[in-house]
Amino acid sequence: MKTLITYCTTHGCTQKVVKEIKQFLGEEVSTCNLKMEPEPDLSEFDRVVIGGSIHAGQIQKKVKEFCKKNLEALQKTELGLFICCMEDGEKAEAQLQEAYPEELLKHAKATACLGGEFNFDKMNFLEKMIVKKVAKINQNTSKVNYEAIHSFSNNMNKIFNPFLFFV
Ligand SMILES: Cc1cc2nc3c(=O)[nH]c(=O)nc-3n(C[C@H](O)[C@H](O)[C@H](O)COP(=O)(O)O)c2cc1C
Repeated sequence: MKTLITYCTTHGCTQKVVKEIKQFLGEEVSTCNLKMEPEPDLSEFDRVVIGGSIHAGQIQKKVKEFCKKNLEALQKTELGLFICCMEDGEKAEAQLQEAYPEELLKHAKATACLGGEFNFDKMNFLEKMIVKKVAKINQNTSKVNYEAIHSFSNNMNKIFNPFLFFV
């Protein structure tokens, strides 16, 4: 099964999470960083995972554009959607719902908030100031949720067996 994981990252956390997911999804997995690489041809893949990170409540514009442009094709493929962010619980879930089109969220086989990290070494002056003021954190912090990554990948790998309904 040919899988594409396409994503955007601002400070590298989403890329790290993509590497983790990749390990669980089998042999034929290609990745595409939408900010650095040309958009792949979706017809070459059996399933697609899309990811991005949340900054000031929003996922990267390139992720939004990719979803909008490929809305029809994405509704015909096996799909997984995730975000990286530092909020938890309901706030994280609301950010996930805001990040992707409703049609894709309904169609997706797996959706998840996979945690995030504050990497002060990669932030500019303004970003450092915002994080210190809003999150009240002033050092590198990781909340990457490896358990959620595992369960998201397991959900992507689940095979639908109609005979189970008759057992
Ligand atoms: C300037 C800034 C704004 C952020 N805003 C949010 C936010 O609104 N909600 C949230 O849950 N996380 C927020 N975060 C946390 C990021 O989502 C988190 O750092 C994520 O892991 C970044 O992933 P990336 O390195 O792939 O870009 C923010 C981080 C920064 C630096």
